Amino acid sequence: MKELTILKPDDWHLHLREGIVLKNIIRFTSELFGRAIVMPNTKNPITSIKKCISYKKSISEALPENSTFDPLMTIYLTDETKKDELTEGFNKNVFFAAKLYPANATTNSSFGVKKIENLYEVFEVMQELEMPLLIHGEVNDPEVDIFDREEVFIDKELSPLIKKFPKLKIVLEHITTAHAVDFVQDNNLGATITPHHLHINRNAMFFGGLNSDFYCLPVPKREKNRIALRKAATSGKECFFLGTDSAPHLRQWKAFCGCAGIFNSPVAIESYVKVFEEENALDQFEKFASLNGPKFYHLPINKEKIKLVSMSNQIPEFIDVIEGKKVLGQIKPFHGGETLSWRVEGIVK
Ligand code: DOR
Ligand code: ZN
Repeated sequence: MKELTILKPDDWHLHLREGIVLKNIIRFTSELFGRAIVMPNTKNPITSIKKCISYKKSISEALPENSTFDPLMTIYLTDETKKDELTEGFNKNVFFAAKLYPANATTNSSFGVKKIENLYEVFEVMQELEMPLLIHGEVNDPEVDIFDREEVFIDKELSPLIKKFPKLKIVLEHITTAHAVDFVQDNNLGATITPHHLHINRNAMFFGGLNSDFYCLPVPKREKNRIALRKAATSGKECFFLGTDSAPHLRQWKAFCGCAGIFNSPVAIESYVKVFEEENALDQFEKFASLNGPKFYHLPINKEKIKLVSMSNQIPEFIDVIEGKKVLGQIKPFHGGETLSWRVEGIVK
């Protein structure tokens, strides 16, 4: 039996949701990850200090007793974001970073940014504060083919942005293309890479009929892009780090409206490890999962470790969402129904 022990990882891009769903899913992250950057695209998005404090409180209350998990909170940028609110929130350690969603580019992004230029004053301040800007990098133009939206965003929006603000600390989130891989390296950005974009290409969404289980945004792309992402993640390069983009949607909603998002937090570590093993790069996993992120964000690395063992690990088809004794719904985890070959044994002190 093979074993792998690495420093406790962090999840640099996570959707925790609210209410009952939050209460049911948080343990999948809090048990194995030291910290996570929590996305602000709740139904009523986190656009102010007040909302952020209240959201963080509900997250803390949902955590298992004695948990040391540290949620790093973000502000959802809109055309109306005020630089004073942002500055105060950052200086008081309420906001760790700011998230830019182009309006309507993804789930709960209708309040997002309509014109990036509207935020130039805000970016000026962020650059001074060294406050990270986390970007959902897709154009929202319906005329642009959905499979091209990341590349067009990089060329038309991101390129001019970094020219104007060369010192702004930017993370291009959940990258999906070879173009993004090159751009991030050439321009000193950071990038998160999800487990699902390392495993599936765009065929998955059409396998056995239209399959919303694999629908997420940005959508998975052609195989050559998946190969480039696997190379980047397993390269050990400091600019690439773990961000699951775990995004739970109740099954009834996913089946009904085909919401974008893949719930991978119950299997994220095992899913990544499978990729690193297949790429003969298990020795690079700790950099991607536990070292590159803290280095980019100037945070200490976690002290504890986690131990993985290679053994059969059957992933449940569905995870129940429970209130009291009542099952309110189910969420399909990534790899649901599959058998993986690694399992996290636990925390090593
Ligand atoms: O697939 C996605 N789901 N991509 C996002 O950007 C948002 C997320 C969600 O919140 O469901
Ligand atoms: Zn996300």
